[in-house]
Amino acid sequence: MAAITLKDIVKTYDDGFTAVKGVSLDIADGEFMILVGPSGCGKSTLLRMIVGLEDITAGDLEIDGKRVNDVPPRDRNLSMVFQNYALYPHLTVGENIAFPLRLKKSELNDDEINRRVKEAAEMLELNDHLDRKPANLSGGQRQRVAMGRAIVRHADAFLFDEPLSNLDAKLRGQMRTQIAQLQRRLGTTSIYVTHDQTEAMTLGDRVAVLKKGLLQQCASPRELYEQPVNIFVAGFIGSPSMNFVPARVDNGKLQTPIGELTVPDRVLKAAQQKEMVILGLRPDFFEDEEFVDEKVREHGTVFTATPTHVEWLGNEQYAYITYEHDPKLKPVLDELAHDLDQDEIPATLVLATNSASRVRGGQEGKFWLDTRLLHVFDPDTGDNLTRDPEAGQKLTEEAAEERQREIDRANSEKTEA
Ligand SMILES: Nc1ncnc2c1ncn2[C@@H]1O[C@H](COP(=O)(O)OP(=O)(O)OP(=O)(O)O)[C@@H](O)[C@H]1O
Ligand SMILES: [Mg+2]
Repeated sequence: MAAITLKDIVKTYDDGFTAVKGVSLDIADGEFMILVGPSGCGKSTLLRMIVGLEDITAGDLEIDGKRVNDVPPRDRNLSMVFQNYALYPHLTVGENIAFPLRLKKSELNDDEINRRVKEAAEMLELNDHLDRKPANLSGGQRQRVAMGRAIVRHADAFLFDEPLSNLDAKLRGQMRTQIAQLQRRLGTTSIYVTHDQTEAMTLGDRVAVLKKGLLQQCASPRELYEQPVNIFVAGFIGSPSMNFVPARVDNGKLQTPIGELTVPDRVLKAAQQKEMVILGLRPDFFEDEEFVDEKVREHGTVFTATPTHVEWLGNEQYAYITYEHDPKLKPVLDELAHDLDQDEIPATLVLATNSASRVRGGQEGKFWLDTRLLHVFDPDTGDNLTRDPEAGQKLTEEAAEERQREIDRANSEKTEA
């Protein structure tokens, strides 16, 4: 068990490139922390500094309050699980799992090693495969062997670097669930690197979002989704992504490409701060007007638009509406696209509607937008001008309480067993 603290951690590589520019994070004992961000933002570099594979240029790394910058990797008692599994092909599954324990042979006898391997194999449902060689296993099984090797060491923390990125989508979903359950059962502090925002949202107690070596926001998935600090976090978290459209205040209303919107005071005040702002609209803020409950109708605005096309996905439907980008916002949106690792921010709105909606491409439809949830971003700084920090903090506190209940339940199940 361990708490891990990063204080203003910097990494400058030998070629002079600074990949991590002063990151501070407090990871609580037993917490599942996700590091997420586009390619090259410094996730692996951070993880490798924590585990000790990379020197720390400046700042302090503490494990349980002790500075460990200069402690060699083998003495940090952390287990790392890599993307490419790093299994030994000539050893059986059982021997692969036991491998880290054999290295410490003097400390553990054969009985203890066998007991721990059996225990891990049981948890990971690898019992039937202990005598097989890695080459004959499926991708998911190999990944579980790599997990087993991390578990047997009874390490203070698990560090994962994109462990599922070699698996197909379905298997990735299954393994994600298994890792989440295993982590809750073991209660071992975990730091998990991914650039997949779905993995980040489903696994993490808290998620740290990085951009170009800088921490943008560290919060529970819900706080990131509902109260992002800036346009980068807002655009990175959520799928399909948040829509960004230009807006100006005129006559106490917001003028936007989908028409004039009557919005709550909170939104209006934020938008009045600038001549032009960027409005953030998640696809699920929209609905086909026919499917809007009478009770909530008054909280939104109805507008007409002609989708270019719709996509029916079974459980929901996406309608696509194109508009013209405001040339003034082009540089901001181009920079955002670049930061998000995308070619461009398309001038297309994605609207998620009920799957029974009869709205069709090329035909005018009536839509409803929930205006309570709108975000307003400053086009100069990207800051979220509508963020409510208290509401955000409350979401993260609730997540922490929820998490504690889950740990308590796992512990009581352990005692009963
Ligand atoms: N040994 C090195 N020497 C110089 N620069 C490096 C070195 N390793 C990584 N970098 C640079 O540091 C930056 C961060 O790299 P890092 O591998 O941490 O990114 P990442 O967030 O893990 O990306 P990905 O999602 O692609 O794995 C990148 O710009 C990379 O080119
Ligand atoms: Mg990486």
